[in-house]
Amino acid sequence: MVKISDDWVLSGDTVEETMYMPLWGRGNISKIYPKYFHDPKAEEIVKNLDYDFSKVESFYTNKGIKEYYSLTFCARANNFDDALLRYMENNPQTIVVNLGAGLDTTFSRIDNGKILFYNLDLPDAIEIRTKFIPETDRQKCISKSVFDYSWFENVKFSRDKGIFFLAGGLFMYFEEEKVKLLFKDMAERFSGGELIFDGSSKLGCKIANRGLQKAGHEEVMWRFHIGNPKKLFARWSKKIELVDTYAYWKRTPKIPQFEKKTKKLMRITSFLKMGKFVHVRFLE
Ligand SMILES: C[S@@+](CC[C@H](N)C(=O)[O-])C[C@H]1O[C@@H](n2cnc3c(N)ncnc32)[C@H](O)[C@@H]1O
Repeated sequence: MVKISDDWVLSGDTVEETMYMPLWGRGNISKIYPKYFHDPKAEEIVKNLDYDFSKVESFYTNKGIKEYYSLTFCARANNFDDALLRYMENNPQTIVVNLGAGLDTTFSRIDNGKILFYNLDLPDAIEIRTKFIPETDRQKCISKSVFDYSWFENVKFSRDKGIFFLAGGLFMYFEEEKVKLLFKDMAERFSGGELIFDGSSKLGCKIANRGLQKAGHEEVMWRFHIGNPKKLFARWSKKIELVDTYAYWKRTPKIPQFEKKTKKLMRITSFLKMGKFVHVRFLE
């Protein structure tokens, strides 16, 4: 992992790698377990990309965690999709903003023909994204840091249509204070909106950071951890209400064909309460 600037966090040696890995994981699983996770668009991009995945592939295969690692991205996508689709039942024309979008293909999985979807990421990342997933009338890009609040102006927000935010694999890299200020400003600006993100416990951060340290990447340690989200948001702002929170693998069906090691890692990380999903609403 390399850090390009205060606001830029990458996994991998280059900008490309940070965005390719979640895509690669989703493409892998979509091919092997389409009943668990189906994403033809991710498969298509992986297939057509002029990119050598062998380094990533052999790293995780050698550690015996290729399947587990790939599944983490699919569990996130499945849980985000479920929450968003539920929101769309009452808000069929909702605005969706995908924060730190990378090469995410959520739009292709959930589009109902009416939503307006924004993918926000740093300029270099968006430049790569648009080569593979071009903008359309209802799928736009915003080339800005999430901490550059001027992006609020890029979003066509109307209270009656609703707004839903996705943030996968993003907030853990930043200091709590920075994330808190962002949430508070979003809550003021987008009242009635909802946001789902993935987070890690203090122990989860410690373990991730140990790995990062070993790999010599101290500069991108995980900083923001979540213990009790209810208490956290009560401390942060009266305008942030917890809608739902659950352990990372709780809603993942345990497919009998999953590898032994995958199931074991799912059990261990669940027992240690390492990862979770958090869904909040910004109150009026
Ligand atoms: C681990 S990747 C996750 C990508 C995507 N959410 C997915 O699931 O495929 C993290 C993403 O966050 C982006 N990112 C990092 N810092 C950011 C910032 N300050 N503002 C916006 N995006 C950022 C990176 O460029 C990268 O695309």
